[in-house]
Amino acid sequence: MQQFDALIVGSGAAGLYTALHLPGHWQIALITKEDLALSSSDWAQGGIAAVLDPTDSFQLHTEDTMVAGAGLCERSAVEVLVEEAPERIYELVHLGVGFDRYQGRLDLTLEAAHSRKRILHARDATGRELVRALMEEVLSQPNITIFEKTLALDLWVDQGRCWGVKSRHEGRVEYFGAPVTVLATGGASRIFVHSTNPPVCTGDGLAMAWRAGVWLRDLEFVQFHPTALSLPDTPRFLISEAVRGEGAHILDSRGERFLSRYHAQGELAPRDVVARAIYLHLKAQGEERVFIDFRPIGAKRMQERFPNIDQMCQARGLDISQEPIPVAPAAHYCMGGVQTDLLGRTSLTGLWAVGETASTGVHGANRLASNSLLECLVFAHRIGNHAEQAALTYPTPAPETPELPPAADHVATILQKLPQLCWDHCGIVRDRAGLTVGLAQLHHWQTWLETGDWGADRASLEARNQLLVANLVLGSALWREESRGAHFRADYPETLDAWQVHTLVRGEQWSAQSLTTPEPGGSVTLEVKL
Ligand code: FAD
Ligand code: SIN
Repeated sequence: MQQFDALIVGSGAAGLYTALHLPGHWQIALITKEDLALSSSDWAQGGIAAVLDPTDSFQLHTEDTMVAGAGLCERSAVEVLVEEAPERIYELVHLGVGFDRYQGRLDLTLEAAHSRKRILHARDATGRELVRALMEEVLSQPNITIFEKTLALDLWVDQGRCWGVKSRHEGRVEYFGAPVTVLATGGASRIFVHSTNPPVCTGDGLAMAWRAGVWLRDLEFVQFHPTALSLPDTPRFLISEAVRGEGAHILDSRGERFLSRYHAQGELAPRDVVARAIYLHLKAQGEERVFIDFRPIGAKRMQERFPNIDQMCQARGLDISQEPIPVAPAAHYCMGGVQTDLLGRTSLTGLWAVGETASTGVHGANRLASNSLLECLVFAHRIGNHAEQAALTYPTPAPETPELPPAADHVATILQKLPQLCWDHCGIVRDRAGLTVGLAQLHHWQTWLETGDWGADRASLEARNQLLVANLVLGSALWREESRGAHFRADYPETLDAWQVHTLVRGEQWSAQSLTTPEPGGSVTLEVKL
């Protein structure tokens, strides 16, 4: 067993930033299941939202976030997010994050559903630049020890407290003990066959927390990004929303712009609205992809602003300066997660959660673009500053455990079929019949788990976590009999006041949690005019 003062699981923006803000005299372990650099954070494109322009205000950013969240944001959390944003940005600038500038000042761009230009960016690879700077800083700190290719298997819970994690490290089970354990394991969008996320996003943190009896919240709210590159047999590479903010158009196969038929803001309508509009339009036309046309942006601006997208498209034989490129929606972001308070504390003593794996209350039923990296920074900083107040008591050594068994045969079946099942039965538009069929299949696969014949290699462990998380996501989607934000039920298409509650899940139990600061209305409805 290895003993530290704090243990962080995950090396995205949330994990790295937490490591940098915990007390410098603590010994900190940061474990991550792949290489340090592989995370959604590293893949982030559009940018980070913050109020920096004199014509903008905290109130406007708060209201934009609350409107996108469709009545389920916690106002107190949103205010923390928005009001602490500028300081976190100045810290990043100080750390050397190379945000784009215009005439020497930080350049701000517009993204859908933001009422002002407030998105800081580093071309179209903001995440890569952010992670580069954070990694360099983390690697230079002598009190932070990095463990790559180390997979957290489960929380180590004893006497009602978290003492660290049990992990798979160099082919063995190893315990990492710490009085402060921080889950920063990112999202779960890889349970869907079409996803913008890297392969590490299998919901491990959610599964570990659930197995430890921790409260999870709002798992039905999965954000589908409207525009991911859609080519046969190719992973869905994200085409940033920022391209629409800069003037790109979405066209159907006839070359017509159609989004204004669904919402007055057209290309700049909220993300859930655009994704559903594309989905409905494709269904009506019997087609699989729409097109995004960069040409209104102009060749020079495109080269400057979107070199990463340009390169990725070129590598696939597409020239964005000459032709519209095929895109379709893909699962992108989990609004729900491990419930935390405003200091990142979960319902289990000794356990904190931060970043996409957490549910702080800032995103409600639908996240506003570029608020996620911001959430990672703001709440990581809060954890770092307040965790010192946690009484540091150390666990006694954990028992040695045997070698891990190899993968069982059914793992391959689950890994292959589960993502398609989630997409088909719990995608952009859901209904009771589809969710029920999907859950029945998941329950059948779950019985395989109960046989005990289950490997402990990485694939088996991720399959097990995905199976569990898929059950929770579909179960939550079935539980919520209304449509709100990113959760659309064809059989309950209205947003209902009675459902202006969070979905809490622990064990097999679903329940409603009132908002601490209920907001009247605030929902965005899709104007279907087919
Ligand atoms: P991640 O960055 O996903 O990191 C999770 C980490 O946990 C990884 O290191 C992973 O290996 C590790 N991990 C997971 N499970 C385990 C385990 N069992 N054991 C050990 N380690 C584990 N948001 C914005 O605000 N602006 C954007 O422009 C933007 N663009 C995006 C573009 C793309 C393509 C994607 C996918 C997302 C984008 N997002 C954006 C969303 C945002 O990037 C993520 O929500 C955010 O980066 C999540 O950060 P995180 O630190 O919580 O998780
Ligand atoms: C994008 O660049 O479109 C992604 C932004 C986000 O997810 O916030």
